[in-house]
Amino acid sequence: MSNAKVDRREEIEELARRRGFLWQAFEIYGGVAGFYDYGPLGALLKRRIEAEWRRFYGIGEGFYEIEATTIGPRDVFKASGHLKSFSDMAVVCKDCKTFFRMDEAIDIDKRCPECGGELVDAGEFNLMFQTKIGVPKGESEQNNSTGYLRPETAQGIFIDFPRLLRFNRDKLPLGVIQIGKAYRNEISPRKSIIRLREFTMAEAEVFVDPGEKNKHPGFETVKEKVLRLVPAEGAQEEKSLEQAVKSGIIANQYLGYHVARVGEFLEGIGIPGDRLRFRQHRKDEMAHYARDCWDAEFFSNRYSWMEIVGVADRGDYDLSVHASFSNTDMCVHDGPEKIIPHVIEPSFGIDRIVYALLESSLYKEQVGKQKRKVLGFKNEIAPIKAAVFPLLNRDGLKEKAVEVFQALRDEAILVEYDDSGSIGRRYRRQDEIGTPYCITIDYDTLEDGTVTIRERDTMKQVRVPVAEIKEFIA
Ligand code: ATP
Ligand code: GLY
Repeated sequence: MSNAKVDRREEIEELARRRGFLWQAFEIYGGVAGFYDYGPLGALLKRRIEAEWRRFYGIGEGFYEIEATTIGPRDVFKASGHLKSFSDMAVVCKDCKTFFRMDEAIDIDKRCPECGGELVDAGEFNLMFQTKIGVPKGESEQNNSTGYLRPETAQGIFIDFPRLLRFNRDKLPLGVIQIGKAYRNEISPRKSIIRLREFTMAEAEVFVDPGEKNKHPGFETVKEKVLRLVPAEGAQEEKSLEQAVKSGIIANQYLGYHVARVGEFLEGIGIPGDRLRFRQHRKDEMAHYARDCWDAEFFSNRYSWMEIVGVADRGDYDLSVHASFSNTDMCVHDGPEKIIPHVIEPSFGIDRIVYALLESSLYKEQVGKQKRKVLGFKNEIAPIKAAVFPLLNRDGLKEKAVEVFQALRDEAILVEYDDSGSIGRRYRRQDEIGTPYCITIDYDTLEDGTVTIRERDTMKQVRVPVAEIKEFIA
């Protein structure tokens, strides 16, 4: 596809496709809505975000990571309430029979965006994918063999709570994290990787004594952070976390701490703070298990404000229902006292974060007679750390460049080698995929053992001895 034909709003999606970040899944069979594949650069980008997330919650917060199954038996989702309540209202076009989510239909003025036909109510759709576990032995086992693909990773953590608690020597608070696939049979997934039917969640479940919710041990460290808040009732306002909790806008310190930390994580990986806000759910949009919820929303030039992380106070809902349905003790015993912990849950959609990063990182500028497109990723997030070029493919430059390239790989740095086309073209390609450094091997390299390193954003060039490249780009 030539650039001239690309709708400007689609620019990032076109770049992501062309450069190997994101591809429609099953493309050669016509594609299926709501399924995307990550190409080589997309997969690297996603892994780097996940690695930062693990560093933040696993090391920074000291939460334990587990890996639970992605398929669960019917009993789990009966208990969790997902069988009964995890559904969206749908409308359908009378003429072309296309389905839409009810809340989308309100945005599109109750006419079908495909054909202009009349939209009518189509009832509720449960969003879980159903499957069979094993081969049912006749009618009576039909229900028992029904399984579901998990719609959130959280349930795996709740089910394992008694073992996790023992692992933590029966103490609260206790934080557990999980990164993995979740599945939702979305009614009308039409927005790139924002609404997928198979997507990656990174969730933390923080179990806390309900009597301690206003005593978060780390509150002091984040209380001055200023948050842009949109409460369920009232207008948007900027407040420090401390003011927000004191005035009751955010209900307790634990919830507030995690809202603020979500903001720190998102800004830390490079999402601009001025494109983030926290919006509280209204009562009528709250999930069945939540008593309070604040979404971190990102302002997309293409899709307006969109949720990328949800921070919920799930109270004792999940542990109580699983205790009752499985007849298992889910309490923490403190002397004669029995406590059912409450759960605070920051729930990240990694794909939406990938989209937000791609969109907000892309910038263009005129350099001389040419325009360059740059993905201005932070170094930690950039898929490729550096590219190595020989200035020309002769006089021993190529061999020297391959030697430098190999030496960096031996240091476990992900570098690319490129010797095709002009240096200018090679720079532009690396700019477009967000590579922070380009290393050029030229005639001086052969003389004095130094290379030119060009920095992506400033385009400044410095000469660095080969032996110091690693340190320079770290
Ligand atoms: P929405 O209102 O947009 O449907 P949600 O409220 O259902 O989202 P949650 O259930 O709170 O979303 O899920 C937690 C996170 O998982 C979201 O913040 C989002 O980043 C991600 N997520 C949810 N559904 C999808 C999806 N269909 N595709 C990609 N990411 C998703
Ligand atoms: N675990 C959060 C959610 O599914 O919404």
